[in-house]
Amino acid sequence: MTLATADADGRVSARIVLLKGVDADGFRFFTNYESLKGAQLAAHPQVALCFHWKLLREQIQVRVEGAVSQVSAAESDAYFASRARGSQIGAWASLQSQALPDRDTFERRVAEVEKRFEGAAVPRPPHWGGYRVKPDRIEFWYGARYRLHERVTYVRDGGSWSKGLLYP
Ligand SMILES: Cc1cc2nc3c(=O)[nH]c(=O)nc-3n(C[C@H](O)[C@H](O)[C@H](O)COP(=O)(O)O)c2cc1C
Repeated sequence: MTLATADADGRVSARIVLLKGVDADGFRFFTNYESLKGAQLAAHPQVALCFHWKLLREQIQVRVEGAVSQVSAAESDAYFASRARGSQIGAWASLQSQALPDRDTFERRVAEVEKRFEGAAVPRPPHWGGYRVKPDRIEFWYGARYRLHERVTYVRDGGSWSKGLLYP
């Protein structure tokens, strides 16, 4: 899904992340808390998500907006433990979104982390974990011929949701 974030000055940034879970509490993804997105989420904990399914119907888009918060350490630990060892090593070795002078520097860091945890389980780095987006607005966009698309919105209103339509 596309994840759009903004900093305190309103500068916007968007990137793809993997949706790792969705339930009544919201949409979850995992990342480096010290990355660019992590800094933006700390400064401005509101996001937009966007999904695009080109092959469904005449295309479907789902847009989500809401507040974001970190998931519990226990939840991040559980997901981190399920990842491939190489990904666990990478999470320690990567200073995500910081300038990297050359590829060798990163490969050296990977080798150092491999050595550090040789023969042992790799614990979750404190700077790595999940976020949950609690939606307060969701829009389903269904493509139709001649651009006569359908747009259905759900807006959270206290404890319930109100449904509406938009012109395409
Ligand atoms: C298909 C795809 C899936 C990705 N999934 C994730 C993810 O789940 N978490 C993550 O941190 N980055 C993921 N990335 C990398 C991000 O797009 C991005 O490059 C990285 O998180 C750094 O973003 P930032 O500098 O805005 O923090 C993914 C990229 C692609 C293309």
